[in-house]
Amino acid sequence: MSVKLDSIHKMNNIQRLNFMLITLEGQLSSENDSLANISNATAIIKAIIDDLNWAGFYFLKGEELVLGPFQGLPACNRIKLEKGVCGACATQRKSILVEDVNKFEGHIACDSASKSELVIPIIKDEKLYGVLDLDSPSYNRFTEIEKEAFEKFVEKLNKYIDWENL
Ligand code: SME
Repeated sequence: MSVKLDSIHKMNNIQRLNFMLITLEGQLSSENDSLANISNATAIIKAIIDDLNWAGFYFLKGEELVLGPFQGLPACNRIKLEKGVCGACATQRKSILVEDVNKFEGHIACDSASKSELVIPIIKDEKLYGVLDLDSPSYNRFTEIEKEAFEKFVEKLNKYIDWENL
């Protein structure tokens, strides 16, 4: 997969989010290996969306979330369901947008640079498979616009990825 990044610096936030979704569709429709697809999905996010220091997956294994493909600094390998923003997202089965991580009780600081966070649950046919976690070094980086775009991102993944057999 190659992504033409030359004109990204000219794009505004919404154009970047749309370009991210189009690029993901290109990846998913041209490759059928799930691990290759979700690995490149994290790279697509990190290459196209600005002001992020971490983007990646945690997958539900038993009673814990376990680290999957990601872009960013090395992160916690395992997160208990009652811990952190990721655990809250998984147990509540809804997207969680945190404007200031210092104000979220129980936030897990894998990278001290993270100031705001958006976590999207991965739910297919009512089964929870894990979460997509996005971290920014800026406060208030994520809004409803990002929430909607990344929920669409996970919807696209759901269409193509066989989460049972990664
Ligand atoms: N901050 C997350 C932990 C994962 S790292 O940010 C990659 C949380 O509170 O769940």
